Amino acid sequence: MTAPASSAEALFEELWRQYIAIGPHAQAIRGLLGGAGVKNDHIALRGLNWPGLGIDALATSFLAYGYTEGGTYTFPEKKLVARHFDPPRPELPKVFISELETEALSEVSRAILERRFRTDAYPLGLGRGLPPSAKLQAEYEQLLEESEYAAWLYAFGFVVNHFTVAVHELDGAPSLEEVNQRLLGAGYALNESGGQIKGRPEEGLEQSSTLAGPVIVAFGDGEREVPGVFYEFARRHPVHGQLFGGFVTANANRIFESTDVRR
Ligand code: NI
Repeated sequence: MTAPASSAEALFEELWRQYIAIGPHAQAIRGLLGGAGVKNDHIALRGLNWPGLGIDALATSFLAYGYTEGGTYTFPEKKLVARHFDPPRPELPKVFISELETEALSEVSRAILERRFRTDAYPLGLGRGLPPSAKLQAEYEQLLEESEYAAWLYAFGFVVNHFTVAVHELDGAPSLEEVNQRLLGAGYALNESGGQIKGRPEEGLEQSSTLAGPVIVAFGDGEREVPGVFYEFARRHPVHGQLFGGFVTANANRIFESTDVRR
């Protein structure tokens, strides 16, 4: 972001613009499900566990608008930790931010991330990533071998990884199954990892997501097609009489795979 947004709403609008530039299918689906009336349940951002590049740094913009700390989540298999932040007003989305435990990577991969991200040569932070000249396809491939997450972050940087439709607030209160069927009928592919629907009503949260659409990314040594961003669908349910407000680690673990390279 070049300048601080004048309001939380303006910040999310700017992040949405960046997001649909990478994943125009999200805007088309939003139109299909009700357009401007579709409420956003949460956004998700990815980072690295280094000063200025992790959860704390990425949360700063949201804390400034009154967001507060929610839950903490760990994903040992993917070498990730995450925290969520609750909005000061119910009309604003939750924010889910994860960071990669860089010490869990090989020296080769860590050195690539160190060299590219721990530099003052270009501005990094919310809404920003590596310039094309600072990306090489061989480095992307090296990261991909070890961490789909690291490779995605290398390609796109700190843009929103997904926005999420609050299915429980859609007109007509459709089930998640009904929403999925509409999307499949319209020709969109869904993340099938662990089944189309992750989570059960009694856990408080059911989720599904599209698969990230392919995007042409400019690297210093040419262009390459890589998975971009995806759109998520969340249906929250009451638990002990209150709408569940957190996240479910087992679901999120599968949702992360929506940006995996299909091979
Ligand atoms: Ni999500």
